Amino acid sequence: MPAPEDFDEIYTDELKDLWSANDQMSRVLKKLTPKAKNAKLKEMLQQSQEGIAKHTDVLKELIAAAGEKTSKEHCKGMEGLVAEATKHCIEEAPKKGPLLDTLIVAQYQRMTHYGIAGFGTAAAYAEALGKTEDAEKLKAATKEIYQGDDYMNQLSQTVNAEAEGA
Ligand SMILES: [Fe+2]
Repeated sequence: MPAPEDFDEIYTDELKDLWSANDQMSRVLKKLTPKAKNAKLKEMLQQSQEGIAKHTDVLKELIAAAGEKTSKEHCKGMEGLVAEATKHCIEEAPKKGPLLDTLIVAQYQRMTHYGIAGFGTAAAYAEALGKTEDAEKLKAATKEIYQGDDYMNQLSQTVNAEAEGA
């Protein structure tokens, strides 16, 4: 990818990177969801996929509104996180149960935190560029991702307690 020429381009590059990050996270979550044993965790992973799809629609809409070709920009950060999640939760994973659940939570939260950083940055860019509507939509998405992460924090207490007793 060529170097960005202005702030607008830095902003749209961020959106395209996030689109790729979301797609990659969604693909690995599809693989991890059936591996979760705790019912609440499984449900959370399913809901999360819906949330990601919704946020991806927002990204596509904002990229198109910026007059950009709606294309992704491969996100290497998420590629690395997906590789870690695959290693710990699939390739070198304990059998389905509390120990695997606790690893799924950890890997999910790493990926989620990447999303919070990216959406938060994109919201700040939109605000600085005077794109108020974009900023509102991106802030709303960031808030939803935060809420999901908060819920996962609570859930991790149950999951970790189950792992400790396993
Ligand atoms: Fe990225």
